[in-house]
Amino acid sequence: MKEEKPKYGWYVRNLIIGFTIIGLIGSIIFVIGLYFDGILGIILICIGVVLMLMFLWPGIGMIALNLTIGDTLYLDKSMETLYKTESLQILDVGCGTGRTAIKVAKILQNGGHLTGIDVYEKMAIAGNSLDTVQMNARIEGVEDRTTFQYGSATDIPFDDRKFDIVNFSSVLHELHMEDGPEKALNEAYRVLKPGGYLYVSEWNRNSLLTIVFIGIFCFVFKPYKYWRNLIEKHGFQELSYQRFGGFGIFSALKNK
Ligand SMILES: C[S@@+](CC[C@H](N)C(=O)[O-])C[C@H]1O[C@@H](n2cnc3c(N)ncnc32)[C@H](O)[C@@H]1O
Repeated sequence: MKEEKPKYGWYVRNLIIGFTIIGLIGSIIFVIGLYFDGILGIILICIGVVLMLMFLWPGIGMIALNLTIGDTLYLDKSMETLYKTESLQILDVGCGTGRTAIKVAKILQNGGHLTGIDVYEKMAIAGNSLDTVQMNARIEGVEDRTTFQYGSATDIPFDDRKFDIVNFSSVLHELHMEDGPEKALNEAYRVLKPGGYLYVSEWNRNSLLTIVFIGIFCFVFKPYKYWRNLIEKHGFQELSYQRFGGFGIFSALKNK
């Protein structure tokens, strides 16, 4: 019988397809421009170069990112000791298809439980749905210690002081609407127990690797200092910031 495999899906697959197609059209325009003399040739070459820089570069970069990321998403080292805590309650906000959430659930011990919530935005990940994350949890053998449901980062559907850890992996930058990250951090503070831990993973705009991967679209992301200020502004005490190439993870404490 064929072995069932989890489907974590490609990040921003539709965007990658669109970007790569436009970028390839740019490279065709560039080549055509080489065959024309005079102003027309120069205009075509310029249009081709702009389209390639704007779209082909991030298109190929995001393909490379998806191919290399696999299931090797990074976890903060300090989490590994916390997982031995008895009946640890973790909330993963914006869990998507469970790439991070299920990895965390796999190392949970002593009756710990992970709850994942998401609004399941389709653009974010191919196949992003509640059914997919539940199927992945079953295949990965963590169904008994995970619960997944619909829920928004800006209106977390749980009581105050319920969780020991709240995790946002590559989610806060997606909250485009005004004050989205602010509301999400207020909500994280509310649902965390005093002495609970906040983890925030985000791409850093000012990293060379981020620019290598997504070119001009690195401006979608904020510099890591922006997240540091926001986390502190919401009453958390920063414990550490670990860099993994263009990706960084903050760990912070909700003081008692
Ligand atoms: C880049 S994906 C990251 C998914 C997952 N955390 C991971 O590590 O693979 C961002 C996720 O945030 C979700 N998202 C976007 N806006 C949200 C919101 N307001 N509340 C909860 N989740 C949201 C998207 O649906 C998507 O699944």
